[in-house]
Amino acid sequence: MYKMYSNKPFLHISPLTEVEYQRWSGLLAERLGIIVPKERKMFLQSKIWSRMREIGYTAYDKYWDYINSGIEGNLEWSQLVDRLTVHETSFFRHMPSFDLVKEDLLRKIHLSKESLRYKMWSVSCATGEEPYSLAMMAAKVCQSTAMKTYFGITATDVSSPAVALAKNAIYSADKKKNIDQEYHEYLVTLNEEMFTIDEKLKKRMAFGVFNLLDVNRPSNIKYDVIYCQNVLMYFEKKVREQILDGLVSYLNRDGLLVLGQTEINAWSHPKMTRVNKNRTLAFRLK
Ligand SMILES: C[S@@+](CC[C@H](N)C(=O)[O-])C[C@H]1O[C@@H](n2cnc3c(N)ncnc32)[C@H](O)[C@@H]1O
Repeated sequence: MYKMYSNKPFLHISPLTEVEYQRWSGLLAERLGIIVPKERKMFLQSKIWSRMREIGYTAYDKYWDYINSGIEGNLEWSQLVDRLTVHETSFFRHMPSFDLVKEDLLRKIHLSKESLRYKMWSVSCATGEEPYSLAMMAAKVCQSTAMKTYFGITATDVSSPAVALAKNAIYSADKKKNIDQEYHEYLVTLNEEMFTIDEKLKKRMAFGVFNLLDVNRPSNIKYDVIYCQNVLMYFEKKVREQILDGLVSYLNRDGLLVLGQTEINAWSHPKMTRVNKNRTLAFRLK
């Protein structure tokens, strides 16, 4: 059980000792692959401390024991992960990458003889804006063709609170400004301040918690598009490459891996060719 909120006066942040910093940053590196350099020690400290205070802990070692205490500890870990990860995102965040996926879908519709099943995976979906953008774009394309086309989207993130928000799909009205008018038919106004996404699109989505560090575990699931943006930069280069190598095994033949433009330098893979499109970083399975 969570400890009760305390009525104690505000306590100033207790500094992480060198040993504690090594311990906590080591846990993050081990479980999330995220490196917290010394310069960001204050960030780590403030996030852990704020969560500790919220649930009534005042000693890092007691909180450490709690985090490492079986099922309850796992639940608490997911809360802490949510604090330590950055969920900044927006609808249609990087338009050239969405255009690339649109072109790929149109091309595959053109090439397919009968019906087409098109599967996409948003690997760090944060609060859902990215996968819903993919869904809106795909729905529009599918509406415009006589070809029977089915699309589905898997959206995952390591943060379970972020995934819950993504599934809930309730967004503030100001986020509409990033969504082109042609897609507004897929938005449902809830009130002056909030909107949600049309049920027809929600039905195409499957949300789940997934840690990219587990991507090298064997799996038979395959996708036509893997959309991986603004997440690799949190990992060391070696870990980034391991993640990308793992993602390749999730691609269907001719499948597309779409990365953030500055996400990795000089990555190559014997099974992948670089896609030549301005202002994008993408690879196709040969
Ligand atoms: C800056 S957001 C990017 C969201 C979206 N992809 C975009 O480009 O707008 C980074 C996301 O990566 C997630 N993340 C961090 N470490 C992760 C890991 N090991 N596995 C999966 N997701 C992770 C965070 O929880 C966060 O939601």
